[in-house]
Parts: sequence; structure tokens; C-alpha cells
Amino acid sequence: MLTNGFDQSYLIGDKGAFGEVYWGSLGGTQVAIKVMHGELTAVKRRQFVIEVNTLSRVHHANLIQLIGYCDEGKRCILVYPYFAGGSLHSRLHKRVGVRGAAPPPPLTVSQRMSIILQIAEGLRYLHCGANPRVIHRDVKSSNVLLSDGGDGSLQVVLADFGTAAIAQNVFETGHESMVKTCQLAGTRGYIAPEYVLRGRLTAKNDMFAFGVVVLELMTGKPAILRQSLVDDDFQALAEWVRGFSQRPNMYAILGTIVDPCLRSVVETNVVVRNMVMDVVNLGMACSQEEDEQRPIMSSVCDRLTVILSEAKGRGI
Ligand SMILES: Nc1ncnc2c1ncn2[C@@H]1O[C@H](COP(=O)(O)OP(=O)(O)OP(=O)(O)O)[C@@H](O)[C@H]1O
Ligand SMILES: [Mg+2]
Repeated sequence: MLTNGFDQSYLIGDKGAFGEVYWGSLGGTQVAIKVMHGELTAVKRRQFVIEVNTLSRVHHANLIQLIGYCDEGKRCILVYPYFAGGSLHSRLHKRVGVRGAAPPPPLTVSQRMSIILQIAEGLRYLHCGANPRVIHRDVKSSNVLLSDGGDGSLQVVLADFGTAAIAQNVFETGHESMVKTCQLAGTRGYIAPEYVLRGRLTAKNDMFAFGVVVLELMTGKPAILRQSLVDDDFQALAEWVRGFSQRPNMYAILGTIVDPCLRSVVETNVVVRNMVMDVVNLGMACSQEEDEQRPIMSSVCDRLTVILSEAKGRGI
């Protein structure tokens, strides 16, 4: 395997909570190698075991695959296919080239729609198709990886299953698919309120985080917005967008909410404007405070299919 002895120049992306990710080559195939850093704590050990266990059970085009792993004493290493487009988070918010490449152009509206649909399909499989079913628990733009699928299309996978909840003990409690948990997992800006406040762990937690990613894609803004440069004062993106939805003219001012690089197409093309409005509404429905009010993933996939086919029917 080639990483040049885990040379720093082979590092990709930002350092995550578990470890560092290196680019490597394995028998001519490009791979991403996640190497645990620091001490092997009980939390990291648990994440590693869950990642390996979950990924050996779930198989879907929109979920990352695990090529291999190494569990030797205190060294934990995970090997995945390399996604040359990097994470959705860096593509949206950093706009830098991956591994020395030139920065890619901004994502188009149709690429954003395709990304949303692919994440939704991956989650629908986890929530309804996998046996036993799985709650991801850390859906966020840095855990969505992109790769060129050829002809301008993108291949999208959901990664990082280290805090996933597999299971009978989550879905089959006889309490409407709900368990209480005292071990918090997730990332600020994406964690559902009922989970933080009451430890309610359900598939609706993933729906909340998915809604935030949808809003990130439409607005080009991160999941939490800094309110002031001096204070540690933040506003959640979902709350920011909801502020506009309370105005009577949200449709008319959509151009000011969307990612600035989409503004002109949204303001000049009514089909795109309708589609973007529908998707922003869907993002808000998924990220609303009340978990019971959020849709389930299969309804979201159906709704997205309708939105896309309506737009296609009108020439997009
Ligand atoms: N398979 C991959 N192909 C290409 N780049 C990857 C791959 N896996 C991870 N990366 C890059 O490495 C970065 C770090 O990933 P990692 O999962 O360790 O941290 P994170 O997602 O930023 O944070 P967290 O630890 O909270 O998940 C990602 O943001 C992405 O840019
Ligand atoms: Mg990650």
C-alpha cells in the first residue's frame, strides 16, 4: 500500500474526531485511509467496531463501502474507496481543490438536486431497506462524499457510520421505534432537538440532519451561522431559513435566500424557482422542531421524484 509512510502530503480533508484521512494506492486503486490518532479510548474503540459492523451489513450505491480494516493492538485503520470530489462540506463552503487540483466550479442546481436525491436514497435504504434497520446519527455535509460519475454527473455516498445505531433494540422496542439513550452523538447544527433534550433516538433524528443538509445545499450556508465576530453567538441554519418562511413574500425573495451563485438562475427561470422553492420547503419540513411532524425518508424520496419530474417536464 502506498501512502509514503503516512506522509503529511498525503493527508486529505480536515482532521476528524476519530483520526486523519490519507490518500493511498492499493493495487492501482485509489483509496482513502482513515488512521486513528491519539490514544485508543473506549469511545474510539466503540466507533471503530460500529463502523466495521455496520458497513459489513449495509450495501447500497449511496453508502460508502469498507474495503478493509486493520485492528492491531492500539492501531485502528479503516480503508475506503477514494472519492476524488472530497466532502460536500468542502465543496460548498471551502471551494478548494482536492489534493492540489484547481478549485471545482460551484455546484449547479441540477447537481444539487442529484446530491439531495442520492443522500435521500442512501437514508431510505438504511431506514427501510436494511435488515436490521439503521439510524446513521451523524448525517452532515462533511460525511457526504462526492466523485465524478462521468458526463458531469456526480456519484454521492454517505460516510462515517461510527455512531450508527443498528437495530432491533432501536426499531423494535414496541415504543413506536424509539429508544432513550444517554450517550449523545452527532454534530452541532445537525442534532435534532428531541435528541438533545430528551435523548429520543429515532430515524426522525436523521430526518432533521438531512433537512439541514438540504438547506445547506440550497443556501450555500453552513449548518450554524455565526451571528457576531466577537461573541460565541450562533444561529442554526434551519432557524434562519424559517425566519424567511414567516414572511408573506418568501417566494418573491427566494433569490436572497439561495446560494449567491444560484441567485440569477432562480430570479430569471420560473421553473428553477419553483423547484428550488419546493426543495427549500422540503428541507424546512424535515428540519422542523417537532419530530412527529417531520416526514419519513420514503415520502421524501417520492416527493423529490415528483419535484424533479415536474421540472423535467417543463424543460429543466
Ligand atoms: N473516502 C474518502 N474519499 C475522499 N476524501 C475523504 C474520504 N473520507 C474522508 N475524506 C475526507 O477527509 C475528511 C475528514 O473525514 P473525517 O470523517 O475523519 O472527519 P469529518 O467528517 O470532517 O468529521 P467527523 O470526525 O466529525 O466525522 C472529510 O471531510 C473528507 O474531506
Ligand atoms: Mg466524517
